Amino acid sequence: MKKLFIVANWKANKNQNDARLWIESFGEEIFSNDSLLANKEVIVCPAFPMLSLVSGYILANNLKISLGSQDVSRFDEGAFTGEVPASILQGIVEYSIIGHSERRANFSETDEILSEKTKLALNSGIVPVFCVQGVDTPVPTGVTIVAYEPIEAIGTGNPDTPENANNVALKLKEKYSFIEHVLYGGSVTSNNVGSFVSMEEISGVLVGGASLDAGEFSSLVKNAR
Ligand code: PGA
Repeated sequence: MKKLFIVANWKANKNQNDARLWIESFGEEIFSNDSLLANKEVIVCPAFPMLSLVSGYILANNLKISLGSQDVSRFDEGAFTGEVPASILQGIVEYSIIGHSERRANFSETDEILSEKTKLALNSGIVPVFCVQGVDTPVPTGVTIVAYEPIEAIGTGNPDTPENANNVALKLKEKYSFIEHVLYGGSVTSNNVGSFVSMEEISGVLVGGASLDAGEFSSLVKNAR
C-alpha cells in the first residue's frame, strides 16, 4: 500500500471556536475508526494563531495527525514585524505549504522569494509542500513533496482529470530527481479523491474547500484509497 499525504489547507478560515469544533469532531472520527489513517499522513494547516490550539488537542489525545503552516517567512528571525519565520515554527509544525498560487497572486511571491522560503524551511527541518501550477513552475532544490495545483481547478469545482494530473506528476519527477511525492490539489472532494490517489504517480491530495467541514474531510480521508 503506498503512503498517502492528505493535506487540509484551511486558508484564512476558522476562528478559535471553529478550529476547536473541527479538531474535536475529526478527532472523534479517528478514535472510532482505527484503520482510517493506516497508510495515511494527514496534515492539517490552520492559520498561524490556531496552530497551538490544534497541536494542543492532537498531543493531549495522542492523535496521528501532523501539523503544517500555510506559509513561512522569507526572512529569518529578527526585525521583521508581523512575519513568522521557520525558526519560530520549528517544533510546532512538521510541514509548510510554500508557493500556493494565492500567495503568488495576492502577495507577489516570486520564484526567487519562494526559493528563499524553501531554504529557510529546510534549514529548520520543516518539510515544504511546494505548490506548482504545472511542469514549468521552477521547483527549488531539496523539495521532496510537490503539490500540482492548476489554477483553474482551485475552488472552482472543476478538477483536472486524474490522467492529466498523473502525467504532470510523472513529468515533474523526471525533471527534478529530488522530488519524491507529487500531490494533486484543486477541487478535490470525498467523491473524486479516490480517482486521484489511485493514479500511480500521485501520492496524495491538497484540499482547500472540502477540508473545512470535519465530516466531509473524514469521508475524504476514508475514500482516499
Ligand atoms: P480547493 O483548494 O480544494 O478549494 O480547490 C485547493 C487549494 O487551494 O489548495
